[in-house]
Amino acid sequence: MSHDENVEPKCCRRDFLGKAGVSAFLTAVGLAGVGSLVGLSPSVMPDPSKQFKIGPPQDFPPGTARVFEEEKVVVISDEEGIYALSLVCTHLGCVVTLDKGREQFDCPCHGSKFTMEGMVMKPPAPRSLDRYEVSLVSGGQMMVDQNVRLGPNEKLKV
Ligand code: FES
Repeated sequence: MSHDENVEPKCCRRDFLGKAGVSAFLTAVGLAGVGSLVGLSPSVMPDPSKQFKIGPPQDFPPGTARVFEEEKVVVISDEEGIYALSLVCTHLGCVVTLDKGREQFDCPCHGSKFTMEGMVMKPPAPRSLDRYEVSLVSGGQMMVDQNVRLGPNEKLKV
């Protein structure tokens, strides 16, 4: 029986491939873990993109309802003041549309309806539309801040 020393035994090659596979797997799991931890870190600074200027109050006389499509916000002015509502339905997140004739918001997905104040007129939406802060900033402009949510009926008095 001869023994060829140049032939690598099958057991060692298999062991090497097995260890390489385990190593690659552990590296992938480690990277995924680090990625999740980064994703879980709290955001200390508010997202500046959630604040936007809308112009001076005189551009919003009572009766105005101006939709800002990109931000999914409507700014409404009535005799009591100016307020901003989210156009994102509180049921499952579809974008509601303004029906100016009926003075209400309609959700195209499951039929919820909201008043001009954002209150639920018809479910399944479980709660009113989010209301955002509107404030006066430098230069006589108004700004909507989607980081600050207000209670019902809160408006900027001008
Ligand atoms: S997402 Fe608006 S009613 Fe369902």
